[in-house]
Amino acid sequence: MAAPSSTTAPISFFVPPPDGSRAYQTVNANLQTGHRDRNFTLETHQVEIENRRGDESTTLDKAGFQLCKYPAKHTTFPNDAEIEKEYYPESAEIIKKITGASRVVLFDHTVRRRRPGVIDSATDKRQPLNQAHVDQAPKSAVERVHRHLPAEDVPELLKHRFQIINLWRPISHPAYDWPLALCDFRSVDPATDILPVAHIYPDREGETYGVKYNPNHKWTYFHGVTPEEFILLKCYDSVEDGSVALFTPHTAFNDPATPKDAPLRESIELRALVFYD
Ligand code: OGA
Ligand code: FE
Repeated sequence: MAAPSSTTAPISFFVPPPDGSRAYQTVNANLQTGHRDRNFTLETHQVEIENRRGDESTTLDKAGFQLCKYPAKHTTFPNDAEIEKEYYPESAEIIKKITGASRVVLFDHTVRRRRPGVIDSATDKRQPLNQAHVDQAPKSAVERVHRHLPAEDVPELLKHRFQIINLWRPISHPAYDWPLALCDFRSVDPATDILPVAHIYPDREGETYGVKYNPNHKWTYFHGVTPEEFILLKCYDSVEDGSVALFTPHTAFNDPATPKDAPLRESIELRALVFYD
């Protein structure tokens, strides 16, 4: 298959509540309808999405994301227990190797297996997500450190650089179907393009970023990411002096150029707290 230089597809963007109130969305969806309670709307734009496969200058620090090649020993992802026991440790080591981090703590994962007609809920049968977003706003990033690290380690860890990075890997076959689009941080204006969205869980609240449409955004993807490859995408960085990308807006999209016989997308994304000395 000849690699395309770009594709054009619809992406859903965040439209803030018109009354200026704080945006929110419930995490758990209605199991029958998939409906999530929220006080904001979405609007769809056709966006050109550039294929960055082969572009070595697209890196975590510059763009906010990068494509890596590193096969995993664990390849089946049958259930949470096996994923946590087998896939978490090898992935933490891979992230350390690539980033130079001294400590990596995986705190969450989502398996998505696209099945047309299946209702997405927060707990089961997750589907690709077409909604430009960032998984954690800074408030949530710091809260995650307190939740997932021993209390005695936290003060020292927070004195040094830390990040939240997702590791997104296809399962079983290349992800031609519903690939992941990523927005180059260098094209984002953090002052105008993103807004915090409260993420309401039954027992607590997190905060994500909704992403507004901006024609200056440079949306990109990697054509046909294989299970031996993965994308690292940054959700948060404590280095906020402008020298590195802070986060990566991202979303899945329905690529009209997907070959008709391409298998449905299956993927796993890990969420990692990444600490440096
Ligand atoms: C992610 C994410 C969406 C998808 O990995 O953080 O938002 O459809 N993924 O894979
Ligand atoms: Fe995400």
